[in-house]
Amino acid sequence: MEKVIVLPGDGIGPEIMDETLRILDWILERDSDLEIETEEYDVGGASIDKFDTPLRSEVLEAALKSSAILLGAVGGPRWDDLPVNHRPEQALLKLRKECGLYANLRPARVYPALVDSSPLKNERASGADLLIVRELTGGLYFSLPRGIEGAGENRRGYNTLSYSREEVKRITEVAVDAARQRSGRLTSVDKANVLESSKLWREVVVDTVPSDIELNHMYVDNAAMQLVLEPRQFDVIVTGNMFGDILSDIASQISGSIGLLASASLGDSKLGMYEPVHGSAPDIAGSGNANPLAMILSLAMAFRYSLDAPDWANKIEAAVNRVIETGKRTADLAGEGEDFLSTREIGDAVLDELAE
Ligand code: NAD
Ligand code: IPM
Ligand code: MN
Repeated sequence: MEKVIVLPGDGIGPEIMDETLRILDWILERDSDLEIETEEYDVGGASIDKFDTPLRSEVLEAALKSSAILLGAVGGPRWDDLPVNHRPEQALLKLRKECGLYANLRPARVYPALVDSSPLKNERASGADLLIVRELTGGLYFSLPRGIEGAGENRRGYNTLSYSREEVKRITEVAVDAARQRSGRLTSVDKANVLESSKLWREVVVDTVPSDIELNHMYVDNAAMQLVLEPRQFDVIVTGNMFGDILSDIASQISGSIGLLASASLGDSKLGMYEPVHGSAPDIAGSGNANPLAMILSLAMAFRYSLDAPDWANKIEAAVNRVIETGKRTADLAGEGEDFLSTREIGDAVLDELAE
């Protein structure tokens, strides 16, 4: 029996998770070969409210023993005044670190039927299809020392950005594998003109990438610009934790909405965490209008990378494709004055397409 840990979280997290679990249940009812059971826990703000901690040790232990973790989103204004190490976001960071999930795959592409939903002009966005491979357990998010100290005019906050050879090598290897399965092109994004950690990054990337891969390097400021100027030049992008965080939100707008962007966080074992790129969207939580597709597509990635069921991954992705092609839209994708469907109605539409 494989275990899937379900962590709905905060804000729109539970809303998009509901739709995703309806799809998972539908699949489990129909495929007797799949031996999967789910266990649901509070994380993030929901866990702080009940247990005074964003991630209980029993939740982490259950996650470590599972095959896959599905996470909705965490965080919200209610918890914004807490110190950094008590915030809801710590749940995510701790799960990533403790589970050894150093490789975050964030695909972004333009669905032909949605080219008008992208703020980019059609001729720039059309056909774009890229994958950001973000280093997830190192860099600026985790390096020591870090802290905030002192008082008054002397108060100071600091973080450290460091990467070891091994950390860069293993994420580069993941990106190389991904590039081989795609068009064989890889762009490494760094800030090697200023940062020593990036100079090391570039050295290791050069040493690690074999000659069958077409490799280029780009500074992160230029990469941000190129993503909106000519997104089709990219296939696989490999980059550090902080740069990958920022570039993936930019990339979401190529596809039209961050509500479409799924992700998989992987390590050296089968265990993976699957979560949308977006957050808990406090501004729309409770409206019933969140786009559940990023979460649903994250479930597809779980079937592909952790649950040995690539056929279900393909079926979910095909169903989402048809929902989009048939013109169904949540509010984030609808144009000015256009009709849109609720979170639940889009969930229904995906289920209908799966049943076809
Ligand atoms: P956000 O991604 O939550 O929202 C940014 C904008 O995108 C908002 O206007 C929101 O309404 C919209 N949006 C996001 N997801 C959407 C969806 N599925 N459908 C429709 N619209 C969607 O980013 P933020 O506002 O900067 O952060 C809000 C909270 O979420 C913060 O506490 C932040 O730390 C947290 N956060 C959590 C995660 C995560 O859990 N993985 C990721 C990012 C941010
Ligand atoms: C993301 C989020 C997280 C990150 C936050 C919530 C810790 O923005 O998954 O992109 O910065 O990694
Ligand atoms: Mn982010």
